[in-house]
Amino acid sequence: MLLAIETSCDETSAAVISNGVVLSNIVSSQTRLHSEYGGVVPELATREHLRNLPPVIKAAFDAARTTPHALKAVAATQGPGLPNALMAGLKTAQCLAFALNVPFVGVHHHEAHLYSPWISGSPPRVDFESFQPNVSLIVSGGHTILAHVRGELDHVIMGATLDDAAGECFDKTAKLIGLPYPGGPEMDRLAAEGNPKAYDFPRPLLREPGHDFSFAGLKTSVRYFLERNPGILKNEQSLRDLCASVQAAIVDVLVAKTLKAARELPVRCVTASGGVTANRRLRQELQAACDRNGLKLRLAQPAHCTDNAAMIGTLAERKLQLGGANSVEPSLTDLDADALPNWQLAATAA
Ligand code: KG4
Ligand code: ZN
Repeated sequence: MLLAIETSCDETSAAVISNGVVLSNIVSSQTRLHSEYGGVVPELATREHLRNLPPVIKAAFDAARTTPHALKAVAATQGPGLPNALMAGLKTAQCLAFALNVPFVGVHHHEAHLYSPWISGSPPRVDFESFQPNVSLIVSGGHTILAHVRGELDHVIMGATLDDAAGECFDKTAKLIGLPYPGGPEMDRLAAEGNPKAYDFPRPLLREPGHDFSFAGLKTSVRYFLERNPGILKNEQSLRDLCASVQAAIVDVLVAKTLKAARELPVRCVTASGGVTANRRLRQELQAACDRNGLKLRLAQPAHCTDNAAMIGTLAERKLQLGGANSVEPSLTDLDADALPNWQLAATAA
């Protein structure tokens, strides 16, 4: 049995995992606290994590009907993320591991997103038996990454965003439109009743070779569009049409680039994860594109799209189970290891 803790941004989460089964996954979101400021305030996030960690961890043990003494390991997100927010969860996990005399495992946040589509069912369990090599899209507030996942715990990075992440583009354009933070879910809601063809926005790098993304230009074109059409925000239907049109531009790029990568590789499977994967249009469009191309699609379940400790714990447990060359590096098991706020997701050895 393993306890995992996630505090990289504005969700305090703890999960108990046993043999791939998610016995509990408690997520305490700080979204409402930060929405007042239009974005995550790092100092507030750290204070909230410190306040929330004890009750969230206790709730994870209670929901799993277990106690700390049953633990065989403790894991935490080690990076990337907000430095002090990461430290709150990481140090809590290291202290617990020390007190219980069990191994500690530091986990890369994006690597955990990468394997989160394999968590499914009720109770949720990580289904690596049906694992297939895949092209994986990670789309969150901080990152947009395309990876070739050649095997379990074996991936290479194909492309990433050159500037803003897709979630950041949702959040920043939503702010321009006057929607509350985080803007992604709000845009998704308003876009459901809008016309995605009402306004034409650029699809950056859509036809360029390579697998990188760029979303800063799209955000800027929305800003210029609003300067030219100030009346648009006063009409409710125009506002919905605007949300649908911006969302369509972001989703078109994500879907086209993911499918292009999948067609270039010997894979029959596509996966997607991260907060933006909760977006309904992205889920529908990815499904339709995979169906057209005879590809299997595995989307992270909505509960595992946004930040959660279940994905940290299932990956940490798998690493401990598999051992060997791709297992946990010594620097990630030190009880005094520091957080790695700028940790890049690297390829596993060829
Ligand atoms: O993975 P996540 O919880 O945190 C990071 O690691 O960044 O992702 C949060 C991001 C935010 O930008 C949020 O606006 C976006 O995911 N998001 C969505 C939706 N739900 C969350 N974007 C579009 N549509 C949604 N339904
Ligand atoms: Zn995330």
